[in-house]
Amino acid sequence: MIRLVGVVGCGLMGAGIVEIVARSGYEIVAHELNADLLQRGLKRVEGSMQRAVERKKLDDAARQAARSRIRGTTTLADLAGVDLAIEAVIEKMDEKKAVFRELDRLVAPGVILASNTSSLSITEIAAATGRPDRVVGMHFFNPVPVMPLVEIVRGLTTSEETVQAAQAFAESLGKKIVICKDSPGFIVNRLLVPYLLDAVRALELGVATKEDIDTAITLGLSHPMGPLTLLDFVGLDTTYYIAEAMYSEFKDPRWAPPPLLKQMVMAGWWGRKSGRGFYEYT
Ligand code: 3HC
Repeated sequence: MIRLVGVVGCGLMGAGIVEIVARSGYEIVAHELNADLLQRGLKRVEGSMQRAVERKKLDDAARQAARSRIRGTTTLADLAGVDLAIEAVIEKMDEKKAVFRELDRLVAPGVILASNTSSLSITEIAAATGRPDRVVGMHFFNPVPVMPLVEIVRGLTTSEETVQAAQAFAESLGKKIVICKDSPGFIVNRLLVPYLLDAVRALELGVATKEDIDTAITLGLSHPMGPLTLLDFVGLDTTYYIAEAMYSEFKDPRWAPPPLLKQMVMAGWWGRKSGRGFYEYT
């Protein structure tokens, strides 16, 4: 039975996961690397719950109850007693493996360790632990409280019992699930990322202005956001790391991050999270 959930990483995705898990009645311990990042993550959770209250998706008492279930920490050992751990750190294999090695040492045997990775191999992450059958992908979508989907990713070594437990947990958060094998990008990013990269290439080639590329897709295809706005929303850094991971797996140039994307990431123009991407945000 899951009562206490640990979330490692309280960035854009981690904060969203903390919010939805707390709103669904679970106790949470949320980990970040330092006090500043932790505070920013918890502020993000509070801001989003405030918006949910304003939009009448959450009442004030439920907001307060959810907030009281969240405890922040900068000490990973504070996750020792969790019944489920979800990792949402930067999309880099070495960093994910380091977190999983530590979690494996800290939490009780049998506890499921889930990764919110959007592109990296669950099997490879699982191999860093002594419980590869208990490691699974749980890929949420941004904004986590709003997007109804979770991709459950079955690594080569993930047991059926673990997949079923991850599915039941995601459903208890009110999410719909799809199950996918451990293939780079899973379902959504396999289709989404080449499209986003092509939008950057179209801008690089001068096919149209950024505004017209976005307008073409919102009005021509009824997407809620055009691709460049969506890149700003997801994070150019995250998309760049996903593209790098997929390129290194497939060696297919369609996955290679276009130079403009790389330059923007190097310049710190990561999108909404940094105040500037293809557009500027205050
Ligand atoms: N909690 C609960 N509900 C909330 C909320 C919160 N914190 N914040 C907003 N909402 C609700 C609103 O009440 C509204 O609900 P309604 O339609 O029933 O009235 C709905 O969410 C939409 O909110 P807004 O009206 O404020 O905003 P918009 O209509 O402008 O929509 C958006 C915002 C949902 C972000 C929309 O633009 C959208 O769907 N964009 C695309 C997002 C997307 O594609 N995400 C996936 C990215 S890929 C990814 O994450 C994977 C990664 O690995 C790369």
